[in-house]
Amino acid sequence: MPANDAAPGRAVLPTGRPALATQPARDLALHESCLVLDDVTVAYGRRVILSHVDADIPRSQVVSIIGANGSGKSTLLKAIAGLVPLAGGAIRCFGEPIDRMRRHVAYVPQREDVDWSFPVSVRDVVMMGRYPLRGWLRRSAPDDERAVARALDELAIADLASKQIGELSGGQQRRAFIARAIAQEPDVILLDEPMAGIDEQTHDRILALFGEWRAAGKVVLQATHTHVHGGSMIVLRRRGEPGSAEHAEHLGAEGGEHHAQHEHHGRAD
Ligand SMILES: Nc1ncnc2c1ncn2[C@@H]1O[C@H](COP(=O)(O)OP(=O)(O)O)[C@@H](O)[C@H]1O
Ligand SMILES: [Mg+2]
Repeated sequence: MPANDAAPGRAVLPTGRPALATQPARDLALHESCLVLDDVTVAYGRRVILSHVDADIPRSQVVSIIGANGSGKSTLLKAIAGLVPLAGGAIRCFGEPIDRMRRHVAYVPQREDVDWSFPVSVRDVVMMGRYPLRGWLRRSAPDDERAVARALDELAIADLASKQIGELSGGQQRRAFIARAIAQEPDVILLDEPMAGIDEQTHDRILALFGEWRAAGKVVLQATHTHVHGGSMIVLRRRGEPGSAEHAEHLGAEGGEHHAQHEHHGRAD
């Protein structure tokens, strides 16, 4: 069990070494730290949502971000994805400022953050995963088409490719967005409540993908209510909320393996 004695206002995500990194990507393979959060603070206007968040996540980790509604799970993922600015601290990916590493980081939003009436096909959505690699203006090349076809196959939605995204079931929509992430060929995959509002088959497929991604040396960060066994945790709590450390210990014991935690402070309402 990791120590729970971080100084007030500071929290550390202890790390384990990657258990397995079978397909390290390119020259980034030698970097032990895949994703580093250094004293990260995020605010909406003057309201501080997260402060002093520290984490050092090596490859081959599935990290669950756990916390009550409104504790800042989505905000943390958006900060890593570059969708909300940092009010303080820094995020690095393979030792570089994460702004320079965007194409290595894929983001799957929570259902509520997507405009489902936007008129795009499933294929269009998955092709968006290629934009960080080829730019917005260049036409798709054969390798883009191949990557999209492969991602559609991985999620078993090739037959839905020409459907409008808004016509799909919740599970199919989630598959489409995960296919978009796969098409990007990322090293870090951020998912906001990926298991919410989906069918059992999609749930099982996502769980299997977590295992495949971990084996391939990727980092998976998911905001969730259901901790993945054997993974690490970042626990967000509101200021003054007692007992989160015990809670983390308890979940960690159930998970049966290495886990980590983060304490969340500085909520200024
Ligand atoms: N765009 C925004 N502007 C202002 N406040 C926001 C915004 N998004 C979220 N919040 C607030 O930030 C807090 C954390 O929200 P969020 O990160 O969505 O939490 P969670 O995902 O854990 O439910 C909540 O109090 C929420 O109301
Ligand atoms: Mg959320």
